[in-house]
Amino acid sequence: MSVTIGILNGPNLNLLGTREPHIYGSASLQDLLDELKLHFKGLRLLHVQSNHEGVLIDTLQEWDKEVEGIVFNPAAYTHTSIAIADTIAAISSPVVEVHLSNVEEREPFRKISYLRPYCAHTIYGKGFKGYHEAIQWLIER
Ligand code: DQA
Repeated sequence: MSVTIGILNGPNLNLLGTREPHIYGSASLQDLLDELKLHFKGLRLLHVQSNHEGVLIDTLQEWDKEVEGIVFNPAAYTHTSIAIADTIAAISSPVVEVHLSNVEEREPFRKISYLRPYCAHTIYGKGFKGYHEAIQWLIER
């Protein structure tokens, strides 16, 4: 049976390609998904993007039963959401927190992650490569 990995993207990541391209690049979310599917052909990859905190929480809870690991870019909810932190703490699937940009070198509020203490691993500042690394990290784990 093939390994299943969930890719979960939070608010405004549907705008990749047009959203602040000097920070997030000019490739779209679909470009990212196509790239990951091509590179990790042997895996079953699930994807959800949502601008809504509750949908992200519901997805984490649902996926906990069917995936081996979750790659999660929580976007701005990283810096605000105790509810999502509680979900990550509650589920047993390992969650890798990914950020395209270098959150340590931007506005001070982006250095705060309510989720990081409950994530198995964190990758930031590597663009799309960060998602590749996160999946690879989960496979090797
Ligand atoms: C982001 C960084 C967050 O601070 C920001 O709110 C995002 C994207 C990133 O991928 O670099 O929306 O998670």
